[in-house]
Amino acid sequence: MEMETDLTSKLSLREHIKNIRKVLRVVRDLDKIFFLYTGLKALLDAMGLYAGLLLSVYILDRLAAGEGFGSSFSVAALTCLLLFGLRLGSGILHNRLDVRWEIVYRRWDSLTEEKILQMDYAKIDDPKTRKMRERIWQDNNWGAGINTIRWYMEGVMSSLFRLAGALVVGAPVFLHMIRGGSVVILLTLLVMALVMAAGSALGTLYEKRLQQFMMGKPETEEERIQNAGLTWGVVFGYDYNYRKGKDFRLYHGYNLLCYWTLEKELRRRPKVREASFNSGKSNFWGNFPSGIVECGAYLIVALLALGGTLTVGSVIRFAGCLRNIFSELSELAFKLPQLALGARRQVSTLEFLNIADEMHKGKLPLEKRNDNLYRIRFNDVSFKYPNAEQYALRHISMELKVGEKLAIVGMNGSGKTTMIKLLCRLYDPQEGEILLNGVDIRKFRHEEYSRLFSVVFQDYQLFSFPLGENVAVSGDYDETKVKKCLEGAGMGARLAELEQGIHTYLYKDYEDGVELSGGEAQKVAIARSIYKTAPFVLLDEPTAALDPLAEYEIYKRFDEIVEDKTAIYISHRLSSCRFCDKIAVFHEGRLIQQGTHEELVEDRAGKYYEMWNTQAQYYVEA
Ligand SMILES: Nc1ncnc2c1ncn2[C@@H]1O[C@H](COP(=O)(O)OP(=O)(O)OP(=O)(O)O)[C@@H](O)[C@H]1O
Ligand SMILES: [Mg+2]
Repeated sequence: MEMETDLTSKLSLREHIKNIRKVLRVVRDLDKIFFLYTGLKALLDAMGLYAGLLLSVYILDRLAAGEGFGSSFSVAALTCLLLFGLRLGSGILHNRLDVRWEIVYRRWDSLTEEKILQMDYAKIDDPKTRKMRERIWQDNNWGAGINTIRWYMEGVMSSLFRLAGALVVGAPVFLHMIRGGSVVILLTLLVMALVMAAGSALGTLYEKRLQQFMMGKPETEEERIQNAGLTWGVVFGYDYNYRKGKDFRLYHGYNLLCYWTLEKELRRRPKVREASFNSGKSNFWGNFPSGIVECGAYLIVALLALGGTLTVGSVIRFAGCLRNIFSELSELAFKLPQLALGARRQVSTLEFLNIADEMHKGKLPLEKRNDNLYRIRFNDVSFKYPNAEQYALRHISMELKVGEKLAIVGMNGSGKTTMIKLLCRLYDPQEGEILLNGVDIRKFRHEEYSRLFSVVFQDYQLFSFPLGENVAVSGDYDETKVKKCLEGAGMGARLAELEQGIHTYLYKDYEDGVELSGGEAQKVAIARSIYKTAPFVLLDEPTAALDPLAEYEIYKRFDEIVEDKTAIYISHRLSSCRFCDKIAVFHEGRLIQQGTHEELVEDRAGKYYEMWNTQAQYYVEA
């Protein structure tokens, strides 16, 4: 999954073509006929252009031959009708294309989001994936993302049809000229071609310098940070979140923010100036040659007209076609590299979409059991987070008996949460195995396996949707059950105060909803775990934010909530673990003690005794 970070490095023509084809293929999968319509529209437009030119040629020749306008009338009328038809067709296609693109664009945009929602959790957490997302963000930030593909494909098709049209329509005159070739005319043509080539080479050079500035690989951390927009994103989250403003105010973080954003931006100024200078030069070299070409075309026309070798109509025809050939060639010289660059900027997105899934390889269906006889065993499990140096868990072996209430205690960073994450298969261990009724959990269908667990994570997430949907995690739910679960989690009284009840929106992101207190939010998270009736209930510090009364209430009802399910309960308040059947003590990634509270306090040399005593002191002294 090594991805290209420097978009200005040299790529072979074949690689460019490969990139373009890859991107076009995805667009085609989203809309089969988009580029077919685009091509058709370009064809109609080119036909309109040359029909108009040929009509003027025809009329001029008629007039020059001394015939009245009347003789050309029917041809003119027919051509006008044709032009009208072409314009109409092109207009209709234009509208259709706009509507279709709207859908393609949105689908494309959501592909990454969908991927993030579906990909292996462990992969999201992988720093490599984070870098990729940053890259995607950058690749799309400087341009208009997939839109550039549409623009430049349209441009390239239009230029190709116009070029072909100019060659076909101009062919008779070109042939005539070559046969009776005058040296002056051929020399002029040669000079024009040279100027075009030189101009386009210089234009490309400055364009490249500009691109290097905009998309070059930042070498140092400092350069990376210089991308001020990125810093704002890192500070406030890519979705600007009002909740993050508190700490900055209270800690007077303004200067720190300025340092990470404004100051870096200012230091970037000279580079910006240099870039805009390059952009100016690149523009000049894009326009200067076309001016020369226009002069040259008229010079040749004048020579031809003076020489009297061609009819007036042919002169017009020649001038029109020649001018189009040069201008479309120069358009292509600009648009093709732009198309290649546009496609190259989408490679990061495509690579991201192609990240392979590891978690979903298991095919074994999960046995549905009404008796909930699911036994879990950790067999010498060791685990390290992606790219981490240290193991978060080391040689963990333990068994979860059916219906058992297990408490896990231990110091910060001792691996408690990690154990939960492995159990519900957000990550797979590097060593050892976790067995469900004797079968390695990796063998089961991931989707079915994860249905076994009701979890309140330490960093649980609520959505800015209505309360009821937060509890049920669905738009279609049993209202009575939701209310019961909220009551069970101690939210009954607060719920009664809400005018809209379970239809009240949470937070202010979506609608002007209620702002929950930390403890209330935690109760909603608990209610959610109750609503999902799963055989395992995993609670990671579920009462950390609750007041003592609420916590007491939850404990009282805990048996009712958990019933005969197997439960794991993590808490730093040791006194609240006493009601569990068994307590496991984690320390520095290892499972160092197991037993009931009574057994563990007996072991005076043990970690549990030490922790218990430290906490007890507070209560005794207070
Ligand atoms: N996503 C992650 N990536 C890398 N390392 C991590 C990640 N999450 C946790 N760790 C590391 O793994 C170790 C165990 O963390 P874990 O969250 O399991 O601790 P914990 O026992 O739940 O602690 P706490 O009591 O603070 O919740 C810690 O050293 C932590 O720094
Ligand atoms: Mg934890």
